[in-house]
Amino acid sequence: MNLTDKCALITGASRGIGRAIAMKLASEGVHVAINYLRSQTPALETAQAIEQFGVRAVPIKGNVADRGQLECIFEKIRAEFGRLDIVVSNAASGVLKPAVELTERHWHWTMDINAGALLGLIQHAMPLMGDRGGRVIAVSSLGAVRAIPDYAAVGASKAALESLVRHLAVELAPRGINVNAVSAGVVETDALKHFPRREEILDNSRRRTPAGRLTTPEDVANVVYFLCTPLADMIHGQTLVVDGGYSIVA
Ligand SMILES: NC(=O)c1ccc[n+]([C@@H]2O[C@H](COP(=O)([O-])OP(=O)(O)OC[C@H]3O[C@@H](n4cnc5c(N)ncnc54)[C@H](OP(=O)(O)O)[C@@H]3O)[C@@H](O)[C@H]2O)c1
Repeated sequence: MNLTDKCALITGASRGIGRAIAMKLASEGVHVAINYLRSQTPALETAQAIEQFGVRAVPIKGNVADRGQLECIFEKIRAEFGRLDIVVSNAASGVLKPAVELTERHWHWTMDINAGALLGLIQHAMPLMGDRGGRVIAVSSLGAVRAIPDYAAVGASKAALESLVRHLAVELAPRGINVNAVSAGVVETDALKHFPRREEILDNSRRRTPAGRLTTPEDVANVVYFLCTPLADMIHGQTLVVDGGYSIVA
């Protein structure tokens, strides 16, 4: 399962689930580019924590939904690593409102970051993966397949993301690139602070999850790691659900 000296870009890796993914891959010998949008301090702290594993950690600021900024992110990756083996499209944002209150701006903001970014990431990553192939993993949520209050824009963007994963998987499998998604149950990160019903969501999830606890960032990171190993060589275009059984309970 040796991933030593592979190079990964993890978007939104300064905090939360992205940070846990960066830490897990780094602990397995992967050099990581830690993308973030605004807050430099958590990105630098994550980079510092990662260096204990003896790998390189390169913080890169930039909005993954902006093609110009994406170009700058990849210029830095080309200069620092000169190659790429793993891309984790984890960064997300979105407007939490009832569908009927969403403006065009809300819709495009959410779709561009949560679904559109994956396209740009793959298009830039392919030349850096070359003939070696690689792994692309998108982080999704149960809102892709379920109706959750105030989650219409984000849910639709995650559904688009999972569909894009399937289409890209078919196009890229012949080039040795596996494209998959990991869909997480409720994870207690900063993202939840933006939900008007945060406490209710957490209580409900704790109560209804057959495994008896919330999903942690590390649970998600472990599955992303698995998808990066040769054990997952024949997994293409799937969405793996990591939620302690929450989504299968009637
Ligand atoms: N938390 C949950 O319950 C849950 C459940 C299922 C799925 N997920 C998914 O898991 C992923 C991570 O969520 P999280 O809860 O860990 O989020 P989080 O704690 O809010 O962290 C978000 C990260 O994304 C970065 N970011 C946001 N917009 C960006 C952009 N346009 N370009 C580049 N970076 C950007 C942030 O950077 P700054 O700090 O600089 O802004 C930060 O590093 C998301 O795809 C989310 O939908 C989360």
